[in-house]
Amino acid sequence: MRVGGKHYRTVWMEDHVVYFIEQNLLPFEFRIQQSLHYRQTCEALRTMQVRGAGAIGALSGFAMAQAFLEAKEHNDSSLIEKARVEIESTRPTARNLFYAVEKVHSAGLVSSAMAVGEAQSVANKDAEDCRKIGEYGNSLIRDGFRIETHCNAGWLAFVDYGTALSPLYLAHSEGKDIFVFVDETRPRSQGARLTAWELHEEGIPHTIIADNAGAWLMAGGKVDMMITGADRIAANGDTANKIGTFEKALAARALGIPFYIAAPLSTFDLNCKTGKDIPIEERSQEEVLYAEGPDENGDMRKIRLASPGSGAFNPAFDVTPAGLISGIITEKGIISATRDGVMSVTREP
Ligand code: MRU
Repeated sequence: MRVGGKHYRTVWMEDHVVYFIEQNLLPFEFRIQQSLHYRQTCEALRTMQVRGAGAIGALSGFAMAQAFLEAKEHNDSSLIEKARVEIESTRPTARNLFYAVEKVHSAGLVSSAMAVGEAQSVANKDAEDCRKIGEYGNSLIRDGFRIETHCNAGWLAFVDYGTALSPLYLAHSEGKDIFVFVDETRPRSQGARLTAWELHEEGIPHTIIADNAGAWLMAGGKVDMMITGADRIAANGDTANKIGTFEKALAARALGIPFYIAAPLSTFDLNCKTGKDIPIEERSQEEVLYAEGPDENGDMRKIRLASPGSGAFNPAFDVTPAGLISGIITEKGIISATRDGVMSVTREP
């Protein structure tokens, strides 16, 4: 995607250095950071400087490749397994992380150069898969559609293009008249900060809505379809995505609105038979109790939103049962959210 006329990916690696767009500063500041060691890259994952399933996956692959390079440099092979455990403990829900680490780890057992090559392939494939998801998803979008989305499943959440937003970018570039309702997505506000910024940069008409406004808009006939991304999809089609997605799917079903998930096959986890097997990340209560943003002078401030003395519970994801999902848009086509649908695209050829 282009920012200020220049094409960027969210994450990339040159020699042993990993570069990434620092998402915690967006939309107020656009800054590229670099990470010289796998531990620094793990920190970027943990603190969500890079977030979103595909971007997490690509960055984790690069972290694993850095670990192989470091092990070679210090002649210390014990570092490799330690690094794998550390990388895998940063974000437990996003399937793409485990997918990428497994691939790069296997390649790295041959040579560190192979690890780097595999990490680059994982990142390139993520971008290409998302481009294809855009093409399949665009076939569902009619001129004049008003589309709701939750969280950020745009290009920032992947290496490029995004999943839920990729079809919207294509539809808009083809001249379809679309309008997007962007769920704010508390507690970290990925919708209000990141999705809104992406759509603004692309010139796509949109508005931010409070998380609790969706059902009312749907009931008023203002939403034609909903598309979200996914962090992990079980073998039966149950889908983990950002907390609040399940509520939207319930509202959409009750009100007869199509509800689609968009995700590459690297997000599917056949080891999870149903959504009950998907680990749900729990994050700090600080994210619920406080908010951060620039004051009137542009200085970043953190303010408390909640009653002093009260704590908060902060599950980062929920699971939408497959039965509420109208279809899953993948790089191999649009499938039903059923075991047969999932098997039709995940079975080896
Ligand atoms: O916690 P995050 O921001 O890494 O959450 C992941 C997501 O970006 C969303 O759940 C998204 O909708 C899934 S698609 C990347």
